[in-house]
Amino acid sequence: MSGSPIDPDNGKASELSALLKRRGFFFPSYEIYGGVAGFFDMGPMGSLLKDNIIKKWKDRFVIEEGFLLVDCPSIAPEVVFRHSGHLDKFSDMLTRCTDCSEPFRADHLLDDIIENADSLSEDELFTALKENDVKCPNCGGSLGPLEEFNLMFKTYIGTGSDRPAFLRPETAQSIFLDFPLLYRTNREKIPFGVAQIGKGFRNEISPRQGLLRQREFHMAEGEFFFDPEADGFPAFDTYRDLKVNLVANTDPDNSIRKELSSAVSEGMICSEVLGYFMGVTHSFAREIGIPEDRMRFREHLDTEMAHYARDCWDLEVLTSYGWIEMVGIADRSAYDLEQHTKGSGQEMTAMRRYPEPIQKEVTTISVNMKVLGPIFRGAAKEVNDAVSLLDPAAVKELLETGEPVKVVISQGEVEVPPGSLSIATEEKRVAGERFTPHVVEPSFGIDRLMVAVIEHAYFEAEKSPLREEASDGEGPYRVMRLLPSISPVKCGVFPLMNKDGLPELAIPIEKDLRKCGLITYYDHSGSIGRRYARMDEIGTPFNVTIDYESKDDGCVTIRERDTGIQKRVPISRIVNVISDLVSEKIIFDDLDQPVIS
Ligand code: ATP
Ligand code: GLY
Repeated sequence: MSGSPIDPDNGKASELSALLKRRGFFFPSYEIYGGVAGFFDMGPMGSLLKDNIIKKWKDRFVIEEGFLLVDCPSIAPEVVFRHSGHLDKFSDMLTRCTDCSEPFRADHLLDDIIENADSLSEDELFTALKENDVKCPNCGGSLGPLEEFNLMFKTYIGTGSDRPAFLRPETAQSIFLDFPLLYRTNREKIPFGVAQIGKGFRNEISPRQGLLRQREFHMAEGEFFFDPEADGFPAFDTYRDLKVNLVANTDPDNSIRKELSSAVSEGMICSEVLGYFMGVTHSFAREIGIPEDRMRFREHLDTEMAHYARDCWDLEVLTSYGWIEMVGIADRSAYDLEQHTKGSGQEMTAMRRYPEPIQKEVTTISVNMKVLGPIFRGAAKEVNDAVSLLDPAAVKELLETGEPVKVVISQGEVEVPPGSLSIATEEKRVAGERFTPHVVEPSFGIDRLMVAVIEHAYFEAEKSPLREEASDGEGPYRVMRLLPSISPVKCGVFPLMNKDGLPELAIPIEKDLRKCGLITYYDHSGSIGRRYARMDEIGTPFNVTIDYESKDDGCVTIRERDTGIQKRVPISRIVNVISDLVSEKIIFDDLDQPVIS
């Protein structure tokens, strides 16, 4: 088939988006009531395709990488996001048109003018909008002042308004809160990863890029907990020699091709753990059908980094909207665990074992509750818990210099009376020390990956060179070359005619394929060319046709989507053959000689 896949310049995007709606991939939600920007329904094809990408992600992270899978609520009380930093910092700059009142995300108005406009400070954004004389894209009116807009959706738990809560903007937070339990579940072994797949919610300001920027979208996140002082990361060997395209924040205008090992040893990528998950991400993206030359990793500029990140590399893919982030791979250091320790008083540490137990001078603090109780009453236990998390050596120093010892409890910061604290130092035999694990997080946007996969699988040609198959409706012949493992429908089943005993052969074949877990599409109407064309449009990799000869020779034809070649296979083998083709155990060339081409 001639024709190239979609890229930003070849103008196929609108053709494709019409096809996706017509063929039931996805479409705007609530359309009969006018629709709401940023919300999309997955149709039957989209749901299957998305599910297949998620299955592949699970295979990779849960089965191959051994991540522990969890499934936590989408709503969390305010306290979680107060301590995670999202309440204060998870926001974008908003400006409104002074004429039509349309809101805009300020940095997006500069996207075609300035590279990485989202890294600008509020003042820089304001100046850039003024200097470039940016007007309202809607009506040409002037833009108003900038305001900070928090992207989290607010709600309340229960009947009153006294328990504010938010829909999670990332799935990660519950994993951090559950760390002590998960560490124990993992028999106190570290490193280990935890995976969660679910919806994320962000009240994006004026979303306009279809599935790429929604207000509710599917995330697949992994949180990998590790000891930052461990010697090396042996798993990195798997991807050491992998060459990838890198745009470092020290040279943001240039992409260089480099082995991951060189990027780590030169300090461009901050650790082998981060490099490893860039390798995993790259290999996963290839596995779902994203071409190597359409991928790059871009490092966040310091000013662009999320509040929790120490370093972050995005996997970007070239789409009809330009280079778009698909996956963020962030080094979140110990930020989240430390924040939730401060917020909850819950210890979130792991044990770093010494090769042999050692004799060590250990300082401990004890609290006299008889002194604390009358002063703090109901909050005394909270104060005691907070004190137990302080570094005893630091408290000892404060007491010796006469400086106040302060802790944060739910009422705010309080001073602990020195008379309630006593410090003891003794020699002990200790097996190890406690530390707060660091986290590297690969965070995948499943919907964005789905768009990238579709765009790179979509081909157009004036006519199929292999058969005289007219496309359904007007326009070019359209094919989606999805990989068999992720295509929504695996096999079309077509009796040549809906009579003469052909359906009697076709129906059991379809049933058997479905019993084997393969999604099929049974079609007995219209010309065979049209039937193939319909399947090509939704990316069905194989079609089985039952013809008059089948009654005599007990064979049917299998047609391969990407070549149009057909081969004859006995009905008794058809389920195994299709199943092996879909799981890529065999390729089409392995079958006997073609009968038609
Ligand atoms: P952007 O800069 O494009 O707003 P982000 O840096 O805020 O994205 P992350 O916070 O790193 O994105 O989220 C992790 C992943 O979730 C992204 O790589 C992306 O694939 C996906 N994602 C983020 N926001 C959206 C959205 N509004 N709609 C669809 N997917 C999204
Ligand atoms: N968990 C990644 C993010 O939401 O930014």
